[in-house]
Amino acid sequence: MNVGFIGLGNMGTGMAANLLRAGHHVTVYNRTPGRVRPLVEEGAHPAARVRDTCGGDAVITMLADDAAVESVVFGHEGVIDVLRDGAVHVSMSTISVALSERLATAHANARQRFVAAPVFGRPEAAVARKLFIVAAGAPDVVDACRPLFDAMGQQTFPVGDEPKTANLVKLSGNFLIASVIEALGEALALVGKAGIDGRRYLDLLTSTLFTAPLYKNYGRQIVEQRFEPAGFAAPLGEKDIRLTLAAAEALRVPMPLASLLRDRFLTLLARGGEALDWSAIGQLAAKDAGLGDPPAGSETEQEHGNG
Ligand SMILES: NC(=O)c1ccc[n+]([C@@H]2O[C@H](COP(=O)([O-])OP(=O)(O)OC[C@H]3O[C@@H](n4cnc5c(N)ncnc54)[C@H](OP(=O)(O)O)[C@@H]3O)[C@@H](O)[C@H]2O)c1
Repeated sequence: MNVGFIGLGNMGTGMAANLLRAGHHVTVYNRTPGRVRPLVEEGAHPAARVRDTCGGDAVITMLADDAAVESVVFGHEGVIDVLRDGAVHVSMSTISVALSERLATAHANARQRFVAAPVFGRPEAAVARKLFIVAAGAPDVVDACRPLFDAMGQQTFPVGDEPKTANLVKLSGNFLIASVIEALGEALALVGKAGIDGRRYLDLLTSTLFTAPLYKNYGRQIVEQRFEPAGFAAPLGEKDIRLTLAAAEALRVPMPLASLLRDRFLTLLARGGEALDWSAIGQLAAKDAGLGDPPAGSETEQEHGNG
C-alpha cells in the first residue's frame, strides 16, 4: 500500500521500518526532522510537512499523546484538511476515548475513513514485528488495513465497529500493567526489608504462580533498579492512567486502584523521574519503606546537625 507514517519515536521507528520491509511504499514525517534519516536509508520517502504524508491510501499516526495528535490532525494543513476522500487515518497512539470519538466524527464529516489501532508491546516488540494490535472501526476499513497490521504486528484483534472501543481496551490494559508494576514494587519492598533476596524471591514466584512475561520482565527491572533508557517513559504512563480515569469518570465507574496509580506517577514525576521508564513507580514502595536511605542518626545527620 501507499502509506504515510507520522511519528518516529520509540515505537514509530520500528513500525515504519517493518512496513518498508513488507514492501509498502512509505512516506515518513517527524516533528524533529533528524529522526527521518535512518528510515530514508531503508527506502522511505522523507516528508517535510504533514501534508506530504497524506497522498496515499492511508496515513498512520504514532504520536505521544492527545495534544500531538490534535496538532497533526487539526492543525494548519493537518490530516483532516489534506487527506483525500475515502483514504484512511489509522491512529495507533494511546489517546483518550474522547479524542477518538472526535476524530471519528471529523473524518466522517470530511468523507475520510478512520480506524483506531493502538498497540500492546514495547519498542523491542515494535522492531521485532511482535506487537499486538487492538483495532476498531467499520469492518471493511479494518479489513482494508490488514496488510499494514500484518506488517507491524504478530496478531490483530478487532474489538468493535466504533474506533473508541479500541482506545478503551488499550487504556484498560495499561491500567492492568501499571497495577502489576505497583504490586510487584510493594511485594519486593516487603521481602527486601526483611532481608530476603529479591532475585530468588522473583524466581520462585515467576516460575510457579506468576509465569506471565510481564511479571518476569517488570519484576527484573525493579529488582535491578534498571529504569533507563526509558522504553515507555514515565510521563506517558501518567498520561495513560489519567486517560483511564477520564474514561472511567465518563462511564461512572469508580476505579480506586487507578486513582492510587495516578498519585504514584505524580510522585515519580515530582521527584524528577521524567526521563525514567514507567516501571520506576515500582521503586517507590521501597523508598517509602526507607530501603536505600541512610539509617536515622547516621553520619550525615550527626555531622551536619539538623539546621
Ligand atoms: N513505548 C512503549 O512501550 C509504548 C507501547 C505501546 C504504546 N505506546 C504509545 O505509543 C505512542 C508513542 O509512544 P513512543 O514511546 O513512541 O513515544 P515517544 O518515543 O515519546 O515518541 C513520540 C512521538 O510523538 C511526536 N510528538 C510529540 N509531541 C508532538 C507534537 N506536539 N507534534 C508533533 N509530534 C509530536 C514526537 O516527535 P519528536 O521526535 O519531535 O519529539 C515523536 O515522534 C504513545 O501514545 C504511547 O502511549 C508506547
